[in-house]
Amino acid sequence: MSIKHAAFPVRCIGSIVLLGAGVLGAGCFQDSTPQHSLFLPLDYKSSFQPVRPCRMNAGHDNTYQMVLANAVAAAPYNNGESPLPADSVVIAELHADATCNSLKGFYLMAKDKAGYDTAHGDWHWQQLDDNERVTQDGRLNKCISCHAQTTCTDYLCSAP
Ligand code: HEC
Repeated sequence: MSIKHAAFPVRCIGSIVLLGAGVLGAGCFQDSTPQHSLFLPLDYKSSFQPVRPCRMNAGHDNTYQMVLANAVAAAPYNNGESPLPADSVVIAELHADATCNSLKGFYLMAKDKAGYDTAHGDWHWQQLDDNERVTQDGRLNKCISCHAQTTCTDYLCSAP
């Protein structure tokens, strides 16, 4: 799997629809609506594995979180391997309650292709809303600066 992401893709729609709406010209426009994260499969609840239990994370504004990892990342993450392999995706499901049943959104880390961000482990960072739509994307300094702590390994900070 090659992991790529376009936060705000250009949408093209049929000219019949445009003519029907009374609009002439090119059928493409820049869509500013946040898009579903391409790193998070629609079936992630069954295809990702829980790797850390529900618990408070002070580093993420005192939200409760469950950490889940895709098939590439799960075993290496649990074994503390460093660095994680390319195409690893690790997510923190953020919840308002201590049983992790009140979803607020997601923080996501995806190991992008070599060279994406060489100085910071080639991690691609995303913040998602509770509909899995991307609200912040890329080489996010606010995430990197905290995940670069010496207590973290390959920018992964969650103790077993
Ligand atoms: C102020 C510090 C801080 C900031 C800022 C921060 N994190 Fe974290 N993050 C942590 C800590 C600490 C943990 C581990 C918590 C635990 O022990 O369970 C963590 C865990 C995670 C995990 C689970 C994987 C792991 O082991 O690290 C993901 C994914 C994650 N953060 C993504 C993000 C993203 C994306 C951002 C930016 C939008 C971000 N974080 C901002 C401190 C931070």
